Amino acid sequence: MARRTIIAGNWKMNLLPESGEALVDSLISGTENKADLEVVIIPPTALIPLAREWVVDSTIMYGAQNCWHELSGAFTGETSPEVLKALGCSYCLVGHSERREIFGESNELVGLKTHALVQMRITPIVCVGESLAEREAGTHFDKIKTQVESVFQALDQTTWLRLVFAYEPVWAIGTGKTATPDQADEIHRFIRKTISEIAGPALAEGISILYGGSAKPSNAAELLGKESIDGLLVGGASLKAEDFSNIILAYN
Ligand code: 13P
Repeated sequence: MARRTIIAGNWKMNLLPESGEALVDSLISGTENKADLEVVIIPPTALIPLAREWVVDSTIMYGAQNCWHELSGAFTGETSPEVLKALGCSYCLVGHSERREIFGESNELVGLKTHALVQMRITPIVCVGESLAEREAGTHFDKIKTQVESVFQALDQTTWLRLVFAYEPVWAIGTGKTATPDQADEIHRFIRKTISEIAGPALAEGISILYGGSAKPSNAAELLGKESIDGLLVGGASLKAEDFSNIILAYN
């Protein structure tokens, strides 16, 4: 099965209504639609209703950075996956390393959120990756394996194919240090092998795995050129229209 290629911009907690709109306008005019590429913006939650209007008449999709795992109830400050669905979100990040580190999200919580999203038919982009200390200690494969396995355990088998993963080495996020295409390729293959052991080779072949961590115009083509890399999850460079456009244009 052909995997979808996705280039997603995670704005994190950046941009305002006006600057967000200007960025999307520039993206729409500065890039061309490619039938086999999904371009996704992932703004802060409060900007999602505006993003929905900004992308009208374009092929750009949008998603959320986080949600809760219950659909409603006494969860002050949280966002329901049902609301994200009603607002038209196609994607939602889960388990971003900033959520895991700053907000203490466990593999178990990531699994619950992923389950809620697939029930809502929002595609979760499940982020996995190791810290510098884990890489240096050589425990990165174990860390990533556990993160991947715990997500599958949280889901009904019938929904496994709805997953997308993003490999984001924590040491490469916002640091300017990118994993080399070969380093990324090694982990992407490992993630697919792990999925294959859990779910079988056919399903593993159908799940897209994105790379994130200092992706930029100068390295996008080489990363995207790897057969194992099915797209990019871009942070800082997705906030600049020219950089994000050039990343999109690097895909061919
Ligand atoms: P940077 O591209 O700024 O390194 O961020 C990556 C990221 O965390 C995307 O989710």
